[in-house]
Amino acid sequence: MSKTDQNQMDINTASQPNGSPAAGARKIQIFDTTLRDGEQSPGAAIAPERKIIIARQLARLGVDVIEPGFAVSSPGEFAAIERISRELQTVEIAGFARAVTGDIDAAVKATQDAAKRRLHIFISASDIHLQYQLRMSRAEVVARAREVIAYGKQFVEEIEFSAMDATRADLDFLTELTEAAIAEGATIINLPDTLGYALPEEITHMFTSVRRGARGGETVRYSAHCHDDLGMAAANSLAAVRAGASQVEVTVNGIGERAGNCSLEELAMILDTRASVIGVQTGIRQKEIFETSRLVSRMMHFPIAFNKPIVGRNAFQHESGIHQDGLLKNRSTYEIMDPEAMGIPRSMIVLGKHSGRHAIKHRLSEFGIELDNAQLDAVYAAFKEKADAQKIVTDEQLIRIAGEQTDTQPDPYVLTDLQVLAGSCSVRKATVALRDSSGKEAVFTAEGDGPLEAVVSCIRQGIPHASELEDLELHSLSTGENAHGEAVVSVLMNGERYRGTSIHADIVLAAAEAYVAACNAAILGSHVNKNVDETVDNVDKIGE
Ligand code: KIV
Ligand code: ZN
Repeated sequence: MSKTDQNQMDINTASQPNGSPAAGARKIQIFDTTLRDGEQSPGAAIAPERKIIIARQLARLGVDVIEPGFAVSSPGEFAAIERISRELQTVEIAGFARAVTGDIDAAVKATQDAAKRRLHIFISASDIHLQYQLRMSRAEVVARAREVIAYGKQFVEEIEFSAMDATRADLDFLTELTEAAIAEGATIINLPDTLGYALPEEITHMFTSVRRGARGGETVRYSAHCHDDLGMAAANSLAAVRAGASQVEVTVNGIGERAGNCSLEELAMILDTRASVIGVQTGIRQKEIFETSRLVSRMMHFPIAFNKPIVGRNAFQHESGIHQDGLLKNRSTYEIMDPEAMGIPRSMIVLGKHSGRHAIKHRLSEFGIELDNAQLDAVYAAFKEKADAQKIVTDEQLIRIAGEQTDTQPDPYVLTDLQVLAGSCSVRKATVALRDSSGKEAVFTAEGDGPLEAVVSCIRQGIPHASELEDLELHSLSTGENAHGEAVVSVLMNGERYRGTSIHADIVLAAAEAYVAACNAAILGSHVNKNVDETVDNVDKIGE
């Protein structure tokens, strides 16, 4: 087969997203370290008692191994690891330890109730670390590694040994250290790119050399643990897989020390989307990717970059008129993966100043709103004005524009006025006017510690079904004096999650509109669910 044919075949495969890999493809274990290395992201710490919530979701996602934390670091951390080990009996749990017996004792004890477990011991391998940090000679490091692996092996059969900073270590020494670890009973050898420094071809060379060079090197499994300092974590993890590694250590949303770790969702989707070339498979349940990403972001208070592959807000959104036109004709023109297969709400077309009439008409028809030509002209003109002012226009705003231009109110509630008293006074006050679909308007007032709290209280009074506010995210869409902010609100109703968004120069107004929009989506959604109506797709329902 010529190279061109092969390329064509790959593109064809890619246009049928999430196709199953070839039968019998090599299985790659996904080792998730979101709760250990990921938690080392500056600002991403999570209360130990909340770790269980993320761990449950990781199990649903289908990871093979969870590293829940660093047992020796605090009693709370120890308790969290103990609880996760007891509860999650289908996933292997890794107890993490430096090369000291105190750490090993804590890791062994915290994971003792796990159905499947391993002990993960690490020590540095590079001369830079040995000289300046450990102040140990190479011989001392080998001796220590032997000692602690033998110690840990008394308690746990499966031992993962990590040679920290492996990619900057002398290759002969790395091979000698690996050989010593294997001789003492290590069953998995992890060769981390701790500083995110290596190039993919160097990773290939390192894994191949160590596997072949170390005595017993072919009898153990290999793992990659790549950081993203130069943006190469996913490429380097892929190189390791292709050089024989059977495990990759990753984090959700790529969180982790400094620039983070290899992102779980990126690697999983690389391995799946290009399965016909790479020829491996994972146990990741793609439908859970979006929910896992958002849960980690919310719980660890760690925002996701808009342009982050797979899970970033823009990852499946197209603003160019040419792209939108192509997508409406056939999705594969500008998409290589199916966002819905990953649980990502389908809103592939971002309505902005480049959008054409066709895209506006199409989006409104998805919400059950059909316009004649004259109405479309009016809506399009009002839409363009809004898009010029704020760059992008949310679905809710478009629906509102359509309502204004056609003199109808498709939403159960519309926010007609908002007044907020904020600043350095001790109590913030809000007044909100809401109109229901019968045209009746009512005004509500409330106080709060902050303006948002006051606004939310008003809306709760005004919308009796006001569902539980789950999350409120505020983003700045631009800078400078006329900056616009985007608010994204998710609410829970009857166990389902619904989302509303809004953009405005006044961020408090954007938050209020987004909250009302989410309540509207919830009201319409539960109505739709009850009536098993075909319009279910019209509702922005997320996280199923
Ligand atoms: O980055 C690293 O080297 C690590 C090891 C301790 C596994 O996190
Ligand atoms: Zn790391």
